[in-house]
Amino acid sequence: MAIHYDASNRLFHLQTAGTSYAFELVEGRYPSHVYWGRRIRGQQLHRLVERSMRPSFSPLPVPGRHDLSFDTMPHEYPGYGNSDYRSPAFEARYNNGSSVTDLQYESHEIISGKLALPGLPAVYVESDHEAQTLRIKLRDSLSGLVVTLSYTVMEKLDAITRSVSISNEGSEAVELRRVLSMSLDMPDDRYDLLQLSGAWSRERDVYRSPLRPGMQSIESRRGSSSHMQNPFIALLEHGATEDTGSVYGVSLVYSGSFLAGVEVDQFRTARLFIGINPFDFGWRLEAGETFQTPEAVLVYSPDGLGGMSRIYHELYRTRLCRGQYRDAERPVLVNNWEATYFDFDADKLEAIASVGSELGIELFVLDDGWFGRRNDDTSSLGDWFVNEQKLPGGLQDVAGRINKLGMRFGLWVEPEMVSPDSELYRAHPDWCLHVPGRYRTEGRQQLILDLSRPDVQQHLIETISGVLNSAPISYVKWDMNRNMTEIGSALLPPERQRETAHRYMLGLYNVLEKITSAFPNVLFESCSGGGGRFDPGILYYMPQTWTSDNTDAVSRLRIQYGTSIVYPVSAMGAHISEVPNHQVGRITSLETRGHVAMSGNFGYELDLTKFSDEDKAIVRNQIAEYKAIRPLVQFGDFYRLHSPFEGNVTSWMFVSKDRTESMVVYVQVLNEPNEPLGRLKLKGLDPSRDYRLIGTDRIYGGDELMYAGIAAPRFNRDFGSAMLRFVAE
Ligand code: DGJ
Repeated sequence: MAIHYDASNRLFHLQTAGTSYAFELVEGRYPSHVYWGRRIRGQQLHRLVERSMRPSFSPLPVPGRHDLSFDTMPHEYPGYGNSDYRSPAFEARYNNGSSVTDLQYESHEIISGKLALPGLPAVYVESDHEAQTLRIKLRDSLSGLVVTLSYTVMEKLDAITRSVSISNEGSEAVELRRVLSMSLDMPDDRYDLLQLSGAWSRERDVYRSPLRPGMQSIESRRGSSSHMQNPFIALLEHGATEDTGSVYGVSLVYSGSFLAGVEVDQFRTARLFIGINPFDFGWRLEAGETFQTPEAVLVYSPDGLGGMSRIYHELYRTRLCRGQYRDAERPVLVNNWEATYFDFDADKLEAIASVGSELGIELFVLDDGWFGRRNDDTSSLGDWFVNEQKLPGGLQDVAGRINKLGMRFGLWVEPEMVSPDSELYRAHPDWCLHVPGRYRTEGRQQLILDLSRPDVQQHLIETISGVLNSAPISYVKWDMNRNMTEIGSALLPPERQRETAHRYMLGLYNVLEKITSAFPNVLFESCSGGGGRFDPGILYYMPQTWTSDNTDAVSRLRIQYGTSIVYPVSAMGAHISEVPNHQVGRITSLETRGHVAMSGNFGYELDLTKFSDEDKAIVRNQIAEYKAIRPLVQFGDFYRLHSPFEGNVTSWMFVSKDRTESMVVYVQVLNEPNEPLGRLKLKGLDPSRDYRLIGTDRIYGGDELMYAGIAAPRFNRDFGSAMLRFVAE
């Protein structure tokens, strides 16, 4: 049993393999957080809560109970208006203009398995034995709003998911203003807040800072999860490291605007929350209707940040990603974007693919520029028919030529967009997000289709399905290259305009669900100017994401390291591109670019026909080596050894599940004279086994490699790198 209900103390205790999570019903009606942390065996958790009168300025909601104030009580899902002054998880506006809500326990049920979230991506189970779910109903009796809190315990995978549904059982419409996916109150503030923040080409830098009184939060207002912030935060107890100490992660399975944060209050408790961004959000809930929030995934680890990451990796790789590619090795690909940009014809593509096939590449991806009249980025998005001038034989011809080389064929699309200079826009000018009478702000000369509209969704499903049926296409790169402005929909009435951005996400998820399930043999990779939508919501539909448009090996150390805080390596596209690098102008060796890119879903993003014979020999070896380590990289356990955010060296390693194989990547950015001799200590190996360093006859004990380490590689140049592979004897 993963979920226990102690009826006498009215306390719920949820247990995963390593975690306990508990809350109680104060006065039999108010859900109050009790504990989240390392697993506790016993069931007497009610003893953890000590209530006493706090000499604060806090009103007392229950007459006679001087020890109970909502302002100091740890909450599970706080409403607004009756004396908790911290940031609420829930806020509704009622017909009488008031926003006061009083949510009280009504009933609960505990069921086997996990329910799907209607219209939304979520962690799933393959059998009911994998999870138990608690659904607890709270009611605001005056309005008739019923708020159901769902908690699923993924016992073995060591995670708890939370989501909320709101049903209007009253007789009048209500406007939901704030419906976060989770909120809980930690008993103190002795934590650091960790966030993944960045920009285009510099996604997911790791920031860590101690909590302070007041609100500290991150958010996206862009209509997508964004390059700037990722829908994830973690609290690390002071002193927690990569390998030790308590870490609490919350991650949101959603791809739109979000809010995540912590509020430290007057008694230095810390309210942790995540959900849809209430900014510019509203949802009119008619009598009889239900609203479902996205899912939050809570992971606790006593084994530092690395322990938390490995729980997320396993969970997201095996129970968020879906489809036949979930467990399949991902192909080595070559993409023509940086090789040709918009300037190509079928012969040029075939020439690149031909060298690729000779070198062992398995998939050729035709990027932007194959459709409409697209010769630059000023036109044709929406016109998903072949540009006959460039490709007179159509996609059939190109795909046929690629297939003849023994390679599979993949295609780039950007379905959510429309160029003002396109046949689609001329035919349907009201199909984009816009506000009547206002200027339609363009980004990269394009507008965003209004995916909140069922007719636009249907058009995309049909058009993109038509493209995928028109040729043997086995891979799709689904791109999205701008953020929302003038967020409004021509089909929604004024009182529903604030629903547009969330309805867009629901529409996108519907389109993705339909297309990915109609084409189960196609591998889908998402992209948003690189990693502008690298989030769990998108991974539910497409099991890998183009990590960043920045392919420079040094920049990628930070980008891939930061991404690995939450996301599995099997989700990260990583390619070798040419030097000087197109984004930062840096020159690094083919070897170093290879070592970094081989730490993800490997590929090339350059003109292979320009390679010398010497380079081709290196590339041939890289591809052969990658194929040998591919299962280890894509499905092994990932350990971070040195952080690029803390010094000149980055290293990480992969260990197979049975601990018989491992691979270490070590990169030193700048060479320094007379540096101290460093040691490289490995992780995750079996201390009782011996391992041979491949390519040598040196044998090391697993304990020796982990506790004493080996001499760190040394280089006589900047950007030096080494890849070390160990196999158990
Ligand atoms: C942005 C992507 O991130 C690039 O890889 C490339 O596909 C371009 N879009 C094409 O326009």
